[in-house]
Amino acid sequence: MGSLRIMMAPKFQLLALLAFAVAMLFLENQVHQLEESRGKLERAIARLEVRDIEERRTQEGLRESREDVENDVVVIYNRVPKTASTSFTNLAYDLCSRNHYHVLHINTSKNNPVMSLQDQVRFVKNVTMWKEMKPALYHGHVSFLDFSRFGVKKKPIYINIVRDPIERLVSYYYFLRFGDDYRPGLKRRKQGDKKTFDECVAAGGSDCAPEKLWLQIPFFCGHYSECWNIGSRWALEQAKYNLINEYLLVGVTEELEDFVMMLEAALPRFFRGATELYRTGTLRLGMGQTSQTWGYLRC
Ligand SMILES: *[C@@H]1O[C@H](CO)[C@@H](O)[C@H](O)[C@H]1NC(C)=O
Ligand SMILES: *[C@@H]1O[C@H](CO)[C@@H](O)[C@H](O)[C@H]1NC(C)=O
Repeated sequence: MGSLRIMMAPKFQLLALLAFAVAMLFLENQVHQLEESRGKLERAIARLEVRDIEERRTQEGLRESREDVENDVVVIYNRVPKTASTSFTNLAYDLCSRNHYHVLHINTSKNNPVMSLQDQVRFVKNVTMWKEMKPALYHGHVSFLDFSRFGVKKKPIYINIVRDPIERLVSYYYFLRFGDDYRPGLKRRKQGDKKTFDECVAAGGSDCAPEKLWLQIPFFCGHYSECWNIGSRWALEQAKYNLINEYLLVGVTEELEDFVMMLEAALPRFFRGATELYRTGTLRLGMGQTSQTWGYLRC
């Protein structure tokens, strides 16, 4: 028995060694597999992190460019005299610091609504390239100017207000004689003339002549000389074409609140809060609408 035990012992030892070796191999294999898995996991995590960073970067890029696009806007309000344009312009001034945009007055010499071709080029360049002023709302008594004719990629947004032609003329007639609430002290061209509009018509006066009803057409028609030919069919068609195709929105004096509401909906970047401000009637009064050239900064 003793010799058997001695005989068996090396066998057992061998078996034990084999078992140990197998176990080692198995364990080593397991460790290897684990390491491989860990490597895979690490690579996957790294990929996820990179994707996350990239995504965040593109989102930031998008947000930035959306802001850029929203700020790279110019609105031009080429106001027609006596269409409630001062009330509306004051609204724009009242909102400019709250909504962070600039308001600039386009002052042309002698209030001439038409600029020379040279001045048109300068104006288009100035408005387009003046980054510091964007977003901006320009207003002034100038007739429509098609920016795309000057090779500009991004056209401004045009808005305007029209009024019943006779109402407008009557308003203008009395404005020349009695001024308005905005600048009550200012001496007007026809001050002292007490003739009523009806009396003027009866006497065939020039201030109330039917030709004066034409004025709103050239503001929409543009800078072509034919636009200023009173009664021109072409000018009327051109004005209507521009009103429909080139203007974002054209309000009516008699329905100014609707105009303000629609503007707030269409251009909140500029007109957020405009409807409430208009309704509560806290419009600012009185500001001299007389600046040097276009480029008169108020806000
Ligand atoms: C636009 O004109 C104003 C003054 O009229 C001037 O101060 C400004 O520098 C001009 N901007 C550009 C970009 O030409
Ligand atoms: C507007 O421009 C005209 C001519 O360029 C000038 O005579 C007038 O004074 C300007 N208005 C103001 C108040 O700057």
